[in-house]
Amino acid sequence: MIKIAVLVSGSGSNLQALMDANLSGQIVGVISNKPAAYALQRAQNANIATAVIEHKHYPTREFFDAAMHQQLLDWDVDLVILAGFMRILTPGFVAQWHGKMINIHPSLLPVYKGMHTHQRVLRTGDAYHGCTVHYVTAELDAGQALAQGVLRVHQHDDEDSLAKRVHVLEHLIYPQVAEWICNGTLVHTQQGVLYRGQPLTEPVQFTKI
Ligand code: GRF
Repeated sequence: MIKIAVLVSGSGSNLQALMDANLSGQIVGVISNKPAAYALQRAQNANIATAVIEHKHYPTREFFDAAMHQQLLDWDVDLVILAGFMRILTPGFVAQWHGKMINIHPSLLPVYKGMHTHQRVLRTGDAYHGCTVHYVTAELDAGQALAQGVLRVHQHDDEDSLAKRVHVLEHLIYPQVAEWICNGTLVHTQQGVLYRGQPLTEPVQFTKI
């Protein structure tokens, strides 16, 4: 069975969705860089091990990432899921988890990497918005996209309503992709990503207009 660690910094609604999904893998631990993250409470309520690794206690990003890496090794983790983890990871750490670490981002990547995605969508007047599950690479929000949740921007949408609607999609697609990895439907190989035995050329799309 695939062993999963989830890395968080905040409320952890995606962690909750992953825990509620009864994955065929096992969430063996949750790491937070913030001691007050509500996500830790969620993990404890579900009897999942937690570790607080505070970035501010480490002199460099490399030392911080090394501490996280050691915790992941101690838990014997196969898959790392970033769920609202708000730290930039070092290239060395990312390389050690190449093909084994995924993230969810609140935009239809490759557009709107980085922060404030809902605001940027509204400013541009885009008709569509959504979220993307992707592999993590050293470049921020740039790894191969595995799945996207797409919604139509409504005339009355503001940042809050968009954030809420995107969250609903996140809670749908993130557990789904995690389950595909757990049950071998989606596999990372040297030759590329296979989905249902075929090369994945486009992210799998979920639409909720
Ligand atoms: C989500 O919007 C996700 O797209 C982004 O961070 C947020 C985490 O929310 N990476 P939560 O902590 O899972 O509620």
